[in-house]
Amino acid sequence: MAGSTRLGLCDSCRRLIGKVFTLVLTILLLNGGCMRPGVEGITVSSPDSRLEVVFTLIDGVPHYEVGYDRADIVLPSSMGFTFRREPPMKTGFTVERSVTRTFDETWTPVWGQRSEIRNHYNELAVSLREEKQPGRRMDIIFRVFDDGVGFRYEFPDQADLKDFEMMSEETQFTFAGDHTAWWTPADFDSYEHLYTEGPLHRIKAANTPITMKTEDGLYLAIHEADLTDYAGMTLSRMKGEVLGLVSSLVPWPDGSRVKGTTPFKTPWRTIQVATWPGGLVESSLILNLNGPPMIEDTSWIKPMKYIGIWWGMHIDKYTWHTGDRHGATTNNAMRYIDFAARHGIQAVLIEGWNTGWDRWGQEGAYDHVTPYPDFDLKQVVEYAHGRGVAIIGHHETGGDVPGYEKRLDEAFTLYRDLGIPAVKTGYAGAIFPRGYHHHGQWMVRHYRMVVEQAARYGLMLDVHEPIKDTGISRTYPNMMTREGARGTEYNAWESGNPPEHMTILPFTRMVAGPLDFTSGIFDITFDEYKPGNRVHATLANQLALMVVLYSPVQMAADLIENYDGHPAFAFIETVPVDWDETRVVNGEIGDYVTIARRSGAEWFVGSITDENARVLSVDLKFLAPGTTYIARIYADTPDTDFRTNPTAHEIREQEVTREDVLTMELAPGGGQAIALMPKT
Ligand code: NOJ
Ligand code: CA
Repeated sequence: MAGSTRLGLCDSCRRLIGKVFTLVLTILLLNGGCMRPGVEGITVSSPDSRLEVVFTLIDGVPHYEVGYDRADIVLPSSMGFTFRREPPMKTGFTVERSVTRTFDETWTPVWGQRSEIRNHYNELAVSLREEKQPGRRMDIIFRVFDDGVGFRYEFPDQADLKDFEMMSEETQFTFAGDHTAWWTPADFDSYEHLYTEGPLHRIKAANTPITMKTEDGLYLAIHEADLTDYAGMTLSRMKGEVLGLVSSLVPWPDGSRVKGTTPFKTPWRTIQVATWPGGLVESSLILNLNGPPMIEDTSWIKPMKYIGIWWGMHIDKYTWHTGDRHGATTNNAMRYIDFAARHGIQAVLIEGWNTGWDRWGQEGAYDHVTPYPDFDLKQVVEYAHGRGVAIIGHHETGGDVPGYEKRLDEAFTLYRDLGIPAVKTGYAGAIFPRGYHHHGQWMVRHYRMVVEQAARYGLMLDVHEPIKDTGISRTYPNMMTREGARGTEYNAWESGNPPEHMTILPFTRMVAGPLDFTSGIFDITFDEYKPGNRVHATLANQLALMVVLYSPVQMAADLIENYDGHPAFAFIETVPVDWDETRVVNGEIGDYVTIARRSGAEWFVGSITDENARVLSVDLKFLAPGTTYIARIYADTPDTDFRTNPTAHEIREQEVTREDVLTMELAPGGGQAIALMPKT
């Protein structure tokens, strides 16, 4: 299936992305000078001069190092590649030339955590050539922002490196201390793990993003940007260096990592740096390292809140497959549509509408177009349209990727013709053909092809069991949200997610991009359906997550009967899904976090804690001067506890101005959600 046809990026489209301020300086350096004491190399600094990258050749081996305010972040770390047929490209290099330039633009995302994003960096491009025959060439491009560093490798078109099979990328990250780290284990097929907090030396192999805190109080996140046609990167402990990690790419079944043809670019390797945890959340570095939009008319791309026939299956009230408890019936769908229409919820997701669920795990189980007999797709969509509600379609592949690719055009055509604007896709289980991994290059290509194809059909995407986000939504803003973390569903299946998990996500997984976490569960223990399972949170915490965990397609996940007539549902009705401004108020990774976001003149605050009760304050100085706001506060009570009394909450109102500081008392596993509306 064609995956590479572009959607017509044109000059007008580039103009649309915002105001390009300057393209100031191009300096040609030949084997440039030395700016850090004791290091011979080529230096490039961030616009604010605090971050510095030095490139060096040590005995012909490319190395980079990173410093912040002259403290070491990454010690000299080598870079290189091995190939199946060609000799390795690791050593014997000479610098042919190096070029630096400054870039500064401000662009307007179609949706996001802020309405404008500044993309400001200094770039160093180093062109290397092997001194001996065959004299192959490789360029390394560094971009140094105030909030971090990205670097990528480019292999120019050349006779001695044409079609290649890369067997390893060996980018080292040698850290300057045994930092406290938060990571999930390297897993070529899933990011659905709890985080481990521990010293860096305990990491054997991890997925990215990996987040760290240094002894000096700096916060680092290691990830990648613009993963387009390459294998996903995990990081493994370096041999003989306990504080060093080295890139380890997800393999193809034949053992190779990346198949390509020059000219070829790798994704960016990213190191975000912040002086406090909130700096990682507020950083736009990953988006900035992606290309401008490839979609000319983005008017159909609309953030939205949704409910769905979904949680009911996870807690065994309903089934995906046919039978007495089939969830996706025409009548049930209409009930959900009615509820959405009454409460201003833009969309309804319906899972289990199509045949195939009875053959779960088998190749060719789904055709993605045939509804079960008790579900009239056309009637349901027409009913939804009549009530001003959108339907979110569902394509579970069960890992049958060839089957999905075969039927994709037909399945997307059906949705487009019916006026279904968004699709949730799923890749649960091992990939067919067996041996391919979710995070290998073959699947990276598949995920990208589906995004491009969806864009052609005017469809927005919410991908479960996805490839990790690396900022692609800047280029394809129809790629709205994805899973790629342990979401709410784990509470329905097994021991679930401890409250701490949600206080780690904003500083780790969310650095990559939006998350379809599916929060908003009011019936915390759902004893009627699964007495042995429960959500590990208070009701106020579930509301706060809608602000804390950003997603432009945000699910209120509970059964609608648990929302009906519930006063706390008013928060879900009013909370926006697209923001003009985002500010982290306070946070410690794994302990608590408070985030304030603005949409127009209204502000919303979400605050959550781990298993410990906490008193936190919110200085309201971000509010507009001279304005009085009504603060509607959804809070835990003094008796609330996620273990014993999770649903106890109170809703109160008070008038506030930017001179006020609110004190929030959070219960164990608790939270607080606040809507601040200007008083009229
Ligand atoms: C796992 C997904 O995370 C979940 O949201 C979905 O309901 C099931 N797979 C079935 O597709
Ligand atoms: Ca999942």
